[in-house]
Amino acid sequence: MILVENLHKSFGSAHILKGISTCFDQGKTNLIIGQSGSGKTVFLKSLLGLFTPEEGKICYNDRTYSKLSNDEKMMLRQEMGMVFQGSALFDSMTIEQNVMFPLKMFSSMSKSEMKDRADIVLKRVNLPNAHKKFPAEASGGMQKRVAIARAIVNNPRYLFCDEPNSGLDPKTAILIDNLIQEITREYNITTVINTHDMNSVMEIGEKIVFLKDGYKAWEGSNKEVFKTDNKAVTDFVYSSELFKKVRKMYLENDQ
Ligand SMILES: Nc1ncnc2c1ncn2[C@@H]1O[C@H](COP(=O)(O)OP(=O)(O)OP(=O)(O)O)[C@@H](O)[C@H]1O
Ligand SMILES: [Mg+2]
Repeated sequence: MILVENLHKSFGSAHILKGISTCFDQGKTNLIIGQSGSGKTVFLKSLLGLFTPEEGKICYNDRTYSKLSNDEKMMLRQEMGMVFQGSALFDSMTIEQNVMFPLKMFSSMSKSEMKDRADIVLKRVNLPNAHKKFPAEASGGMQKRVAIARAIVNNPRYLFCDEPNSGLDPKTAILIDNLIQEITREYNITTVINTHDMNSVMEIGEKIVFLKDGYKAWEGSNKEVFKTDNKAVTDFVYSSELFKKVRKMYLENDQ
């Protein structure tokens, strides 16, 4: 569980996150949604400890980040996995080497233990035979799977994914969403995902935090997103004619 209270983040005079409070539950896929520039990536990087907020606090289960020593922060960092916007694989390394990288950095495993662990997670993301390929030889969907395997190789308690299905066709995008949700449940991880994809919202939006101009404009679940009259949400969701129709059908069926 991650608890956020009154989080503020600025860059110079640009005030980006303007007092966000929310809670991300363990074992659930928690989504941050909002338009481009609304502050999703800055928020996610603040949760990862890559940005230091000027005000507010973030608690990871019973640990308040600002009260931790440097060693404790380092230990917490090792409990986090991250899928960056655009996969961010190392081009000069094979898929297996990419996945083993966090183990080399953070574990004391032997080479053969690292290979075994990489093999387990590559199988888990349905890539049993891609170990020796390079990222350039893999499709976009495969690259996302590798990025997920690398993010979970260290058994994280917290998993952060920035637009994990951007650039994928709708079918592959849903497969990736479902894979992240399965892994989240299976390992009871607190997962936070940035997205502006409405299919993801409907498919895996167990908890949704909606950002607008750096404020939390709304929060709820995918079951509630069609029922709310919150203008920020309806403007975002129903910019698509398709979702206007989906909402109508959903509300009729819900009577
Ligand atoms: N390192 C930085 N230094 C200065 N400004 C930044 C920095 N990172 C982000 N910003 C600014 O913060 C604002 C929010 O950016 P952010 O990347 O969080 O948006 P986003 O919601 O993730 O958008 P997208 O959907 O396009 O990824 C933008 O105005 C951006 O220019
Ligand atoms: Mg972003």
